[in-house]
Amino acid sequence: MCGIVGYTGTENARKILIEGLKILEYRGYDSAGIGLVSETDFQLARVKGRVEGLNEIRINGEFTCGIGHTRWATHGEPSVENAHPHRVGRVTLVHNGIIENYQELKKELEGEGVVFNSQTDTEVACALFDKYYDGSTHPCVAIYKAISRLKGSFAFALMFKGYEGRLFGLRHKSPLLVGKGKTGMHLASDLTALLPYTDTYTLLEEGEVVELRASESIFYSYDGIYDPVWHHSSLSYESCKKGGYDHYMLKEINEQPEAIEKTISPRINGGLPDFSSDGITKELFDGIKCVHIVGCGSAYNVGLIGARLIEEHAKISASAFVASEYRYSPPQNMQGALVIAISQSGETADTLASVRYARLCGCPVISVINARESSIARESSRIIYTHAGPEIAVATTKCFSAQLSIMYLFSIFMGTCKGRLTDATARELTEGMLRCSSTISRRLKGAGELLELSKSLSGASSAFFIGRGLDYFMCLEGALKLKEISYINAQAYQAGELKHGTISLIENGTPVISLMTEKRLFDKTLSNLKETKSRGASTVCFLAKTEKSPQECGDFNIFLKGNSFIESLFDQLVCLQLLSYHVARLRGCDIDKPRNLAKSVTVE
Ligand code: F6R
Repeated sequence: MCGIVGYTGTENARKILIEGLKILEYRGYDSAGIGLVSETDFQLARVKGRVEGLNEIRINGEFTCGIGHTRWATHGEPSVENAHPHRVGRVTLVHNGIIENYQELKKELEGEGVVFNSQTDTEVACALFDKYYDGSTHPCVAIYKAISRLKGSFAFALMFKGYEGRLFGLRHKSPLLVGKGKTGMHLASDLTALLPYTDTYTLLEEGEVVELRASESIFYSYDGIYDPVWHHSSLSYESCKKGGYDHYMLKEINEQPEAIEKTISPRINGGLPDFSSDGITKELFDGIKCVHIVGCGSAYNVGLIGARLIEEHAKISASAFVASEYRYSPPQNMQGALVIAISQSGETADTLASVRYARLCGCPVISVINARESSIARESSRIIYTHAGPEIAVATTKCFSAQLSIMYLFSIFMGTCKGRLTDATARELTEGMLRCSSTISRRLKGAGELLELSKSLSGASSAFFIGRGLDYFMCLEGALKLKEISYINAQAYQAGELKHGTISLIENGTPVISLMTEKRLFDKTLSNLKETKSRGASTVCFLAKTEKSPQECGDFNIFLKGNSFIESLFDQLVCLQLLSYHVARLRGCDIDKPRNLAKSVTVE
């Protein structure tokens, strides 16, 4: 949540900061601001709303050093006063995270005469840095004094009076990267914002402080100055652009065949899943009695499907947990648990905390992550990277697919390692996965019927998704996507549960979308759908191959592609994504940046 950038060099800082903030806008878009400094001047520009608004603000003079912020409001409503940067005395800063003890610090500082102009925790942190910065000692002294008193999570980019042209950066639990560019040095919350300027970057570690000048960087740790390890990213700036699509979400939906292909191909050997290149071999499962999968939102939905697949293929008890619950109400017995953390960003605060808890209990933790070198990746025992490329739209699509493909292969792998699946069955299941990319590609080439369906859904105020087994978990994802981007109140139900209460909500024309890839449960789900039809529902079926005629199914039927269960499941997923996309578009919603949301949720 919140994106921060910094630049000091020889070029126009305003342009560079605004460009970086636009890239980071998916992290929050309630307000934005930049602070620019030169030897003789300081300028602050802050707006409520989108980064774009900063271009409207007049700034006199040329600046080559500054910091910027795009905000997802936590403390204090979205407003100009609460927008970052904040400035108190001789310190200006931007912040990503939450200062948990800000109220007690605020009282103390107010007692010392500080007058606050905002409701934010960030301004309090700024005043604390100022309290310890006397202008005569190096800013690092003040920084270390202040951070010893801050509780919570934070990444800061700071500027100190007397050190014009220099930036300082530090982090605790929130990410911060340093980029070495051709024209100067950069700070950013994530790698994508560095890519227009450099592929050379390093990650600040906890407790480290960086001082940036136009052509050099000095890294401090508690033990003194050190040389960081610089990495070279293989990602291109091009991969972060819309590439001719109207929305990132549509681009990312279309990138799924490639994302799946790139993710699974290094993990299939001789027609069977093989995770040895991720350091995961049979031995890791010795003594494992159960699997816990943790994640938030869509990642949790992948976890639900993954847990069911592990139980089916490896015959070992597996459960999925919402990470924010797992961290505070974990299962009683953690002994013998293998923990799998699923996260696109690798920075989700609750998932990270769950990983820490599991490691504290001595459990091996495997993380399934898209963002390289992210916090969760760095704290896990093993990492399975999904190779989906940067995902910019707030609603996840291609990363969900990549995660699901990993969980599917992993369940087969575990099944073979535990001797619960024969090689022949494992091979057949894997072949289905190998065909998924081309199955999805066929769907993407001709999705006209979904556009048709979306027209009839776009006027709805509520919708129900029903299914059984794995289809129910897919219902959760379908409903989440629809409500997230189109603001239709969509609910997912196990098909058999409707008549225990919810069916009272069905009225004439209420859309009920039934997912029916689970062949053994087909007839049961169909009966449940008919029950809603009898009460006036407008019914939609997503069907894998069936003997039934369309007349016997829904008012509107989508026939899924593929010859195996996993292909139908992926095709169904893509259909649900496209349906949400088209509905949101017809309703004129801001698809890539839905209201109130941010992509990377780094607060609890
Ligand atoms: C929904 C969505 C979110 C994320 C969730 C976890 O479309 O994108 O529900 O799945 O916030 O994020 P990561 O995967 O970064 O941990």
